[in-house]
Amino acid sequence: MTIDTLPMTTATAAAAPARFPAGFVWGAATAAYQIEGAAAQDGRTPSIWDTFARRPGAVRNGDTGDIAADHYHRYREDVALMSELGLGAYRFSLAWPRVQPGGRGPANEAGLDFYDRLVDELLGAGITPVATLYHWDLPQELEDGGGWTDRDTAYRFAEYAHLAARRLGDRIPTWTTLNEPWCSAFLGYGNGVHAPGRTDHAAALTAHHHLLLAHGLGTAALRAELPDTAQVSLTLNLAAVRPLSTDPADLDAARRIDGLGNRIFLDPVFRGSYPEDVLADTAHVTDWAFVRDGDLAEISRPIDSLGINYYTPTVVAAEQEPTADADAPRGDGHQGGSPWPADQGIRFLPAPGTRTAMGWPVDADGLYELLTRLRDDLPGVPLLVTENGAAYEDYTDPSGAVHDPERIDYLHTHLAAVHRAIADGAPVRGYFLWSLLDNYEWAYGYSKRFGIVHVDFASQRRTPKDSAHWYARVIRDGALPQ
Ligand code: NOJ
Repeated sequence: MTIDTLPMTTATAAAAPARFPAGFVWGAATAAYQIEGAAAQDGRTPSIWDTFARRPGAVRNGDTGDIAADHYHRYREDVALMSELGLGAYRFSLAWPRVQPGGRGPANEAGLDFYDRLVDELLGAGITPVATLYHWDLPQELEDGGGWTDRDTAYRFAEYAHLAARRLGDRIPTWTTLNEPWCSAFLGYGNGVHAPGRTDHAAALTAHHHLLLAHGLGTAALRAELPDTAQVSLTLNLAAVRPLSTDPADLDAARRIDGLGNRIFLDPVFRGSYPEDVLADTAHVTDWAFVRDGDLAEISRPIDSLGINYYTPTVVAAEQEPTADADAPRGDGHQGGSPWPADQGIRFLPAPGTRTAMGWPVDADGLYELLTRLRDDLPGVPLLVTENGAAYEDYTDPSGAVHDPERIDYLHTHLAAVHRAIADGAPVRGYFLWSLLDNYEWAYGYSKRFGIVHVDFASQRRTPKDSAHWYARVIRDGALPQ
C-alpha cells in the first residue's frame, strides 16, 4: 500500500499531500430515472416513479423524469465529459422497466441495446462500468401486484438480473444488486415520501425483507450467469448514528436507530440473522412471519464488496413525548416524517455546523466513523464509497462559468475523511462522487443540484462546474491538493 501514514507532526501534516493508494478507483455516479429521460421510448414501461411523480403534491413543482438530463440521447457527450474528467469508473443504474417491461417475461432487446451502447462507449473511453440493477424504478405492474410487499417481486428481480447479466455481463465486471434498500422500504412504504408513496410500517418491514431476499436471489443469478467474473456488491445508506448525550435514554435511542438503520441490513447480509433487539423493537408492528426457512441463507450469500452512500450523520435523543421531528435529517437525509416503525420516543436533531442546500449538516467525521466501524465489524469486506456529494445553490457568472466553492469544500473534507479512514486500516477501494450531472432529485424534482457538471434543463447544455475541474485534478494527482 502506498498510502501515507498519519503524519507525526503538524509541520509534516502541512507538507504531506493526502495521497490515495495506487489502484484506488475514482468514479462518479448517477441513476437511470434521475438522468435518462426517454421515459416511453423503445419499449420502456412506467415505473413507480413515473406514477408517483404525477401524484399531486408528491414531487416539488410536479417535476417528472420524462426528459431529465436526456442522457438516453446524450450518453456519448456525457461519456466524453467523464473522459475529460479522467474518471476511472462510472456507476449507473439499469432501468428495470426498460430491460424487462412490466417486470415479467423476456428481455426487451431495444432497451438492453441502450446499455450495450453505453457500456461500449465507456469501455472505449477506458472507463470501467459499474452497474446497479435497482435504483428505485420498480415496474409499475409489479407494484400493482403488491410491489415489494409481495414476495414474488424478489423472484421477478432475480429473473431480471439474469436477463441483464446475460446480455451485458461480458463487459461489466462489477454489479450492485440494490441501491439504498432502506429508502425503498421505509420511505417508499413507511412514510410515503418516495414511490410508491405508501404509509404502512408493517408493509415497510415486509418490503425490507423482500428487498433483501431480492438481493440474495439477484446475487445468485449474477453468479450463475457470470461464474468467473461477477464482482457482486450491495449499496447501503448506513447511518452514522450519534446519541445526543451519554444519558442512558439517548444511548438507547441510538441503539434503536442503529438497529433499524444499520444492523437490520448488516446482520442478515453478513451474519445470516436479524438482530434480536430489532425484532423486539418492531414486535408491535409485525411478527416477521414473512421470513421463511432458507431466506436468511439466501440473503447472506457472500458478496465481494459493500457500497456505502454517505451524506450527513444522524443525531438522536430520547424524548418523553412521542413526536417525530419531520425536519431533522437522518441517514442520507431524505426527510419528511418518521419512516420508522419504532421511532416513538426518539427525536432526530441536526448536527451542528453548516448545511447544504438540502438542509443537511456538513460533517465529514461521520464518514470516517462509518468506514472505521465497518473495518471493525466486517473484517475482510472491501468497501466502496458509492455516493458522496452535496447540493448547493451554484453561481453562474456572466461568462457562463459555474462557481461552487462550497461543493469543493464538501468534497475536500469528505475525501480527506476517506483518506484518514484508509490510513487507519479501512479497506476502502474507491470513491464515486454523487453526482456526475445535475439531475432529478426524487421528491425535490429539479430544485436541488448535486452535479459537478451543471445541466441547463431547457437547452440540455452541460457545463463542468469549478468542482469538476477540482475533481479532475484530484484524480490526475491521485491526491488531495494542499
Ligand atoms: C442517495 C440516492 O441513491 C440518490 O439517488 C440521491 O439522489 C442521493 N442520495 C441524494 O439525495
